[in-house]
Amino acid sequence: MTDKTPSIHGEWSSRFAFILAATGSAVGLGNIWKFPYITGQNGGGAFVMVYLLCVAAIGIPIMIAEIMLGRRGRQSPINTMQTLAAEAQVDPRWGYLGWMGMIAGFLILAYYSVIAGWSMAYIFKAFFGSFFGTDGAEVKQMFDNLMASPIQQIFWHTVFMAITMQVVMRGIKGGLEKAVRFLMPALFVILIILVAYAMASGSYAQGIHFLFSPDFSKITADAVLTAMGHAFFTLSLGMGAIMVYGSYLPGHVSIAKTTFFIAGADTAVALLAGIAIFPLVFANNLEVAVGPGLIFQTLPLAFGHMSGGWLFGVLFFVLLFFAALTSSISLIEPAVAWLVENKNIDRQKACVWSGTACWGLGVAVVFSFNVWSGFKIFDKNLFELLDYLTANLMLPLGGLCIAVFAGWMMKQAHAEQELELPAQGFQAWQFLIKYVAPAAVFLVFLHVLGVL
Ligand code: PHE
Repeated sequence: MTDKTPSIHGEWSSRFAFILAATGSAVGLGNIWKFPYITGQNGGGAFVMVYLLCVAAIGIPIMIAEIMLGRRGRQSPINTMQTLAAEAQVDPRWGYLGWMGMIAGFLILAYYSVIAGWSMAYIFKAFFGSFFGTDGAEVKQMFDNLMASPIQQIFWHTVFMAITMQVVMRGIKGGLEKAVRFLMPALFVILIILVAYAMASGSYAQGIHFLFSPDFSKITADAVLTAMGHAFFTLSLGMGAIMVYGSYLPGHVSIAKTTFFIAGADTAVALLAGIAIFPLVFANNLEVAVGPGLIFQTLPLAFGHMSGGWLFGVLFFVLLFFAALTSSISLIEPAVAWLVENKNIDRQKACVWSGTACWGLGVAVVFSFNVWSGFKIFDKNLFELLDYLTANLMLPLGGLCIAVFAGWMMKQAHAEQELELPAQGFQAWQFLIKYVAPAAVFLVFLHVLGVL
C-alpha cells in the first residue's frame, strides 16, 4: 500500500471526485473539436482505427503508469520524477521528464485557450440567434469573420484564460470538483441529441461509412503519427497532467479500473462527436478536410434548422466551454504545483505568473490565424507548429519515457504494490508497458523520420 501522506496541495475528496476530474481533463476540445477535424483531414476510417488501437494498446497502459507514478511521488511531476528516480536509484535526470511535460502543457494551453475562446464567442452567436436558417456559405463566412478579427479572438482568449486562472487559484476541491459533476453528464446527453439529429439528416450512412470503413491506402506515416499523438492528447497523457492529478489521489483507489472508465468515456465522447458531425458535413456538401473550423462550420447548421435549435445551440457551446475549462486547468496545474513547491510563492502568484506568460503566447497564436498567417516555419503557422510539436512529438516522447520508467526503472515490486492488480492483470500491464507501448511509439517515430 502507498504511504498515505497527502500531497501538500490537497487531495480529492473521493475516488469519484478523481474520476470526474481526470475525465474532465481528458474530455475536452480534443474530443469534440480536434478529433473530427483531424479525422476529416486524414481520410476517415483507417485513421480512426489507428487511433483506437493506440488508445487501447498504448494509452491505457500509460495512463495506469502515469497515475501510479503521480500517486507514489505525491508532488508536481518534476519533483515526483526526481523523488521516484532517487527511490529507484537511477539517474536523477529523469526529472527532465517533468520539465518537458510542464513546458508541453504550457505550449498546449496557449493555443487551447484561443480555441476555447472561439467556443465562447459561439455561445453568444447561438444566443443571439445567428444560426437561424443559415446555409453552409453563411456559416463559413461567420467563422471566417471571427478568424479575421484579432480583437474578438484576443478578447475571448483573455476571458477564458482569466477564468481558468480563477479556477486554478481556488485549488483542488473548491469549485472544480463540483462543476464537473453536472457538466460531464450534460455534455453526454446533448451529444446524443445531436447524433439523433444527424441520423435524420439523410447522410447518416455516408457519415458512418466515412468514420468506420477503413481504407488503408489513405494512411500516411504522418497520419499514423497524428493518430498516435492524438491518443496521447485526448487522454491528457505524456505531460504530467494525469500524473499531477494522480498525486492528489487517496491511497486506496484502484488505478486500473479508474483508467478504464476514463478512457472509455473519453473515447465515447470523441466517437459521438464524429457520428454527429460527419453526416452533417455530407448532407450539406461541405468539405471534410477544412481543418480547425470544422465543428464551427457544421454544427451551427444543425442548430439553425432543428426544432429546439436555439436552446441546444446555446447549451452545446456552453458545455464545450466547460469541457475546455476542465481540461485547461489540468494543463497548467503541473506548472503551478511546481512553482508553489520550488519558488516559495503561493498558489495565487503562481497562477498569475504562469497564466500571464501563457496568455502572451496565446496572443501570438491568435495572430497566426490572421495578421501573421503568412509567417510559416516548416510550412506551418504558429498554431499548427505548436500543435504538431506538442501533440505529435512531446506527448508521445513523454509517454515513451513514462513507459520506460514504469516498466524498466522502478522496482516492479513497487508498481505491483501500487496497482494491486490480480497476477494476470499485472502481467498484462507489464507486458504492454515494457514492450508494446515503448516499441510502438519508437517505431512510429522512426517511420516518420523515414528510417523505417
Ligand atoms: N485531453 C484534453 C482534450 O482532449 C487536452 C489535454 C491534453 C489536457 C494534455 C491535458 C493535457 O481536450
